Amino acid sequence: MSEIVKIFDTTLRDGEQSPGASMTIEEKLKIARNLEKLNVDIIEAGFPIASEGDFEAVKLIAQEIKGCEIAGLARANEADIERAYEAIKYSDMPRIHTFIATSPIHMEYKLRMKPENVIERAVHAVRYATKFTSNVEFSAEDATRSELDFLVKIFSAVIKAGAKVINVPDTVGYTVPEEYSKIISYLFEHVDGIENVTVSVHCHNDLGLAVANSIAAVKAGARQIETTINGIGERAGNAAMEEIVMIFKTRNDVYPFDTNINTEYIYPTSRLVSQITGFPVQPNKAIVGKNAFMHESGIHQDGVLKAKETYEIMKPETIGIKSDSIVLGKHSGRHAFKNKLYTLGYELNDEDFEKAFKAFKRIADKKKEVYDEDIDAIIAEYIYRIPEKYELKYININCGTFAKPSATILMRVGNEEVLKASFGDGPVDAAFKTIKEITGIDCKLVEYSVKSITGGTDALGEVTTRIEYKGKQVTGQGADTDIIVASAKAFVNALNKLAYRLENWVK
Ligand code: KIV
Ligand code: ZN
Repeated sequence: MSEIVKIFDTTLRDGEQSPGASMTIEEKLKIARNLEKLNVDIIEAGFPIASEGDFEAVKLIAQEIKGCEIAGLARANEADIERAYEAIKYSDMPRIHTFIATSPIHMEYKLRMKPENVIERAVHAVRYATKFTSNVEFSAEDATRSELDFLVKIFSAVIKAGAKVINVPDTVGYTVPEEYSKIISYLFEHVDGIENVTVSVHCHNDLGLAVANSIAAVKAGARQIETTINGIGERAGNAAMEEIVMIFKTRNDVYPFDTNINTEYIYPTSRLVSQITGFPVQPNKAIVGKNAFMHESGIHQDGVLKAKETYEIMKPETIGIKSDSIVLGKHSGRHAFKNKLYTLGYELNDEDFEKAFKAFKRIADKKKEVYDEDIDAIIAEYIYRIPEKYELKYININCGTFAKPSATILMRVGNEEVLKASFGDGPVDAAFKTIKEITGIDCKLVEYSVKSITGGTDALGEVTTRIEYKGKQVTGQGADTDIIVASAKAFVNALNKLAYRLENWVK
């Protein structure tokens, strides 16, 4: 039987550190529920001392999710550790994850501490954390650029102080598989008490090696991997969970390891994370990309028709891609819609289902055929939304070859309705200027993209906007058969997220 490697999912903590990926409390809870269905071993739910919002999200997740350990991140100091425990204590399996940097460059410039004081601080933090729970993980930040003998010293000391998991992060995505494997082997040979703890790895993807490095570390003895869904995370992201899990499944002959993951939830969870963060999954992304199981060339198609194994090394069903050939239209009823949602991996409660069904009917009245991608857009727009301070009630655009583009917009702002009009350099610019005037939020538009979700002139256009305000970035999405309306909706969606965060999060 294959040995189990634990999956520590940090989508809600390191994943959320991707610029623009910040999530609301409800969104985090939705992802946590999916992570529970996936059966990850540990959910790192956040960094409780970072903000009120982070604290609340971790607390709610600890209260609700009972199938996984819930970890809270804490720097190596008493205040962080107390705050982390305050949030995770509602879990049946709480874990305090404390860290301090160990590389010369971080100790000298960031911490301004001497190596011996870093060890003292780490030991004190771990000992302090064990007063709250025996489940304590210690991370040596920037481990791969640290001196090996220093790592040996600090890990030996924290194990003695009570750490049950020691994590060896490749914080800046600098290492390569051979080197990382040697580091892990060296630690196994030299760290006192290492045989009694779990060795964990946490890899960033700056050189595109996060997954390869994590797998190499497992071969060298690590038994916990820290991952995120779709590989999102700080800078180039973290090791993608779906890739790690499917490598063990597909190449068990080379890597005789397994995880506890229910793989059929991989695809739905990937879509959920993409919908919530507004980060599209690149089409050629391994495992969960739109093209990952598509065959374009004639030779490949011919082969797959004769025997799938000719060009498919995994079955799409294994990761939860359910295929059906039904295209919905305006005559489709509740049953067909529910079935379609199921095949797409969406499980909605009754209230959300009714909301989505109404939106589907509205779109089906305008379009002949409603494709799977249209349904994704409906779910993104009507279900994964946060409470809305702003609502777009009416938009009228005037533009053309001679007219100076202008927009007249009626919006609800709280309980009031506000009507304004402005000119712009183009119809989208005019709409955005008017919305900014109505809301009074002078944000910067840092990204704007339009994609046609399906083919044809009646296709739904999906717009993603990313805005920046006082150093915070949020993304918004909107879909409509009219792309100017979709743009206005996406902008309003981003402003709603921003308003929600400004009111609810004390960062
Ligand atoms: O990348 C890193 O070093 C981290 C630690 C906090 C584990 O995210
Ligand atoms: Zn990290």
